[in-house]
Amino acid sequence: MMKVGIIGTGMLGYAICTRLLKYKFKLIVYNRTRSKALNLKNQGAIIAKTPEEIASNSEIILTIVKDSSAIHEIAFGKNGIIDGKYEDLTIADISTINPIDSIKLEKKFSKYNIVMLDTPVMGGPKAAINGELILMASGKKIIYEKYKKIFKCIAKQTFYLGKYGTSHLIKLSMNMQIAFLAISISEGIMLAKRASIDPQLFLKILNSTYFKTGMSENKAYKMIDNNFKPTFMLKNLRKDLDIATSVAYSLGLNLPITRKINTIYKNAEQKGFGELDYTGIFAYLNKISNKSNK
Ligand SMILES: NC(=O)c1ccc[n+]([C@@H]2O[C@H](COP(=O)([O-])OP(=O)(O)OC[C@H]3O[C@@H](n4cnc5c(N)ncnc54)[C@H](OP(=O)(O)O)[C@@H]3O)[C@@H](O)[C@H]2O)c1
Repeated sequence: MMKVGIIGTGMLGYAICTRLLKYKFKLIVYNRTRSKALNLKNQGAIIAKTPEEIASNSEIILTIVKDSSAIHEIAFGKNGIIDGKYEDLTIADISTINPIDSIKLEKKFSKYNIVMLDTPVMGGPKAAINGELILMASGKKIIYEKYKKIFKCIAKQTFYLGKYGTSHLIKLSMNMQIAFLAISISEGIMLAKRASIDPQLFLKILNSTYFKTGMSENKAYKMIDNNFKPTFMLKNLRKDLDIATSVAYSLGLNLPITRKINTIYKNAEQKGFGELDYTGIFAYLNKISNKSNK
């Protein structure tokens, strides 16, 4: 049986652990805030005290943390991965990070003979629990093939995309769609409501057209109900818009709408909406949208 380490049991990481444990993978798990990992013990996981302990007891580690600086911390910080006793270790990074940082990280890990794969995903905790994520892998194909069994357990579709950085770049391009869609559906609902039209009617008609989306079929109804219980926090989507803007900049590309939308999400975070679901952008836009507030 493969020895799998998991670092990061936030919303997505915890759900991935639950899925893997259900399918009898042997897991050793670490989270910076230990309390968030403890319940996984009841599901059969071993809870480690440090990333070092994870590295010493795993052949592959899935990292599901916030961003590249978090990866640095768990890998090269105090009692980090590189302090462990490891051999032939692979790190599959599921976090959404800057593709340029990911290429740098891969190089840094290779100095320690650690192989890194980029394996970002689409889909949230519910999709992870049901094994319905979409996973994009870049890096060494032979290593991807070796651990495909794990990826197939959490994802209904996996795409092998070749060279490092590709997966993260596509992932960022997709998160831009999420951010745009959440804003456009918010403003559609707001306009219907202000004109005393039932927003459900607006959605019903939208969803009978070619322009329906997962957002209009699912999350939009939660917006109408003011249900912003997070599955993917607004502050994390904002982080991805920041990365997309800076990657575009480094490629000599100006993405005017992404920049604009990033500012809106940033303002929402600053006004205290960051820990809501990203669809909480609807609540923020409602708050700032009265003409008298201009
Ligand atoms: N949720 C989703 O639907 C979803 C979908 C696709 C991709 N993602 C990506 O997956 C990653 C995790 O997302 P999430 O929703 O699970 O976020 P989350 O609930 O905010 O969890 C973030 C995780 O990162 C850890 N972390 C943050 N900074 C750290 C540091 N400096 N050192 C060590 N650990 C650190 C946190 O530890 P603490 O608990 O100690 O804070 C926590 O385990 C993010 O990159 C996100 O963009 C999320």
